Amino acid sequence: MTDIALAVIGGTGVYALGELTGVESHQPVTPYGVPSGPVRVGTYAGKRVAFLARHGEGHALPPHRINYRANLAALKALGASRVLALNTVGGITERFGPRVLACPDQLIDYTWGRISTLCEEPGSDVVHVDFGEPYAPGLRQRIIKAAQRAGVALEAGGCYGATQGPRLETRAEIARMRRDGCDLVGMTGMPEAGLARELGLDYACLAIVANWAAGAGPAVDDVITLDEVLANVATATCDVARLLQALLAD
Ligand code: HPA
Repeated sequence: MTDIALAVIGGTGVYALGELTGVESHQPVTPYGVPSGPVRVGTYAGKRVAFLARHGEGHALPPHRINYRANLAALKALGASRVLALNTVGGITERFGPRVLACPDQLIDYTWGRISTLCEEPGSDVVHVDFGEPYAPGLRQRIIKAAQRAGVALEAGGCYGATQGPRLETRAEIARMRRDGCDLVGMTGMPEAGLARELGLDYACLAIVANWAAGAGPAVDDVITLDEVLANVATATCDVARLLQALLAD
């Protein structure tokens, strides 16, 4: 198995890596079941890169139905040791307005009822992984430096709050998250980050801010629409591609 330089997990609005060439598709079956869809492995900026659409290529899976364990185990089985998670999020604090790219350094988990560990099955080893730094510091630094080299504006830091979804949050929930210290809100950051740590994968998040979270923007009673979310993600995609090129050229 040839090593994979980077595995990319695409979120809402990112269902393929356009620049991936010589693509082979894999449908691994893992001890945890099947991933969200085919893993596309190909060449990107001269490196071997794997891509998986977290919600499936047709966005068929809501956040609480994603088999996060199978997704990460599939990427690992294909030879990945580094995972860049693209997460579409809402912005809560001032620095994180629509179309901002961010590389958060902390997270708070508000999800519930998701299988959040590899120690779920009876008889599996119980592990208590360190999670004080939920994202791999080395990979984060490489992402931040790649953004600088590529001239891509990136907010380096911030706290990602992972909510259950699939509904969006109330204004009171976002106000509480702000008090808790969250800068960003999304529905898929956990249990993915924790499972990646259990699997020994280096994992970092590149968050694409698609909208102001409920009540967080200048017009407090704005309604968040999928059109707005997708349009802002599409606008940010060019910068994501430039950042990825620089990261892989490293
Ligand atoms: N809340 C939660 N998840 C999201 C949002 C949001 O406002 N925008 C994009 N994903």
